[in-house]
Amino acid sequence: MAASTAPDGRGDNRPLRVGIAGLGTVGTGVVKLLAENAEILRLHCPRAIEVVAVSARDRSKDRGINVANVHWTDDPLALADDPNVDVVAEMIGGSDGVAKALVEKAIAKGKHVVTANKALLAHHGTQLALAAERAGVALAYEAAVAGGIPVIKAMREGLAANRIERVYGILNGTCNYILTQMRETGREFADVLVEAQTLGYAEADPSFDVDGVDAAHKLAILTSVAFGCQIDFPGVRISGIRNVSAMDIAYADELGYRIKLLGIARLTPHGVEQRVHACMVPVGAVIAKVDGVYNAVVTDGNFVGQNVVIGRGAGQGPTASAVVSDLMDIARDRILPAFSAPAESLKKLPSAPPGSHFGPYYLRLMVVDRPGVIADIAAALRDENVSLEAMIQRARGDTVPVVLTTHETTEAAIHRVVRRLGHIDSILEPPHVLPIELLA
Ligand code: HSE
Repeated sequence: MAASTAPDGRGDNRPLRVGIAGLGTVGTGVVKLLAENAEILRLHCPRAIEVVAVSARDRSKDRGINVANVHWTDDPLALADDPNVDVVAEMIGGSDGVAKALVEKAIAKGKHVVTANKALLAHHGTQLALAAERAGVALAYEAAVAGGIPVIKAMREGLAANRIERVYGILNGTCNYILTQMRETGREFADVLVEAQTLGYAEADPSFDVDGVDAAHKLAILTSVAFGCQIDFPGVRISGIRNVSAMDIAYADELGYRIKLLGIARLTPHGVEQRVHACMVPVGAVIAKVDGVYNAVVTDGNFVGQNVVIGRGAGQGPTASAVVSDLMDIARDRILPAFSAPAESLKKLPSAPPGSHFGPYYLRLMVVDRPGVIADIAAALRDENVSLEAMIQRARGDTVPVVLTTHETTEAAIHRVVRRLGHIDSILEPPHVLPIELLA
């Protein structure tokens, strides 16, 4: 167990000593919060929380924090060996490499671990939770999912009495900001992305965010907490927002929807469905109103009903807030199984087969405006037994958009419709397809 926990396991009043690996935005934020809110923490926590060691690349950089009296080490792994460290705060990032080696070593050395590293947990969370439980230490990661929103605490504690059959949310602030800007200004994705990069809302290499991988990491973790199952990141079906166009956003508005990048996990009779993709949600749904950089997570519990948490999913302040709340839990001796249920009991659930998703769809086709095209399109739908709900063709010209919405059908049937549409010469581009999620 950690060095400052008393032999009877009930904790003591000595400060909780933290070693921080990585003094980037998050690590620096943690040091700042601990200093600025020291008085508040003293009131809420039986033990002081002290940063006693750090490992960061550049010692001379001015980060606006006072770490003069803190032990520095160039080797992050040394924090796991340091007898003065009770908790290793891993703020390095990355699914493997140093971050993984550090977390594994810290656990093996009997130290608690706090991390903001969603990629690490999505790939190795179940094994790390097993190791942590065997070692009797915490593996805490509130900051890894939806930044400052206390969603892990909500699911693991406040909602723990419920059977949860679905969890979904806006899990990436960069995508939500871009989609919001696209709707508000009518601009295209590429244009808004450049602006988001200039403002610091999107990374220079935005692919993890805009291709849905970051949201998928978070969803894989939420799935495990919600359903008491092993993490299955490869089981998440992922697509991002690069193909969402200003025209689809305008049609969504007209049809009474908003386009959002959602992560959705559901227990189905065929297995666990985990999906990250852009979709249309009714404008009246709670999640449709969550705009800009905000994240939101919605859980459906069998007794509590719908529960929604909204807040900032990224940034120094929100992420530090989540990391320090984990440190406070450890200082209070509140150590729960990482993914709600004890790691040994996490079930390996099958993934729902691809194509089994059932729901309505939106399709936009760019067609040559001539007689018979609509009849051909209708035939493709008829031949796959897909029922049309609404159709819009208003413009006139050489090439015009035809927008269709369908009644509920399977994803597999929509793929077959798209294949058939591909054989119609008057359809000039691959169809733009978005699922419609009839959320409340
Ligand atoms: N880049 C993420 C986002 C935050 O835009 O929400 C860190 O996961």
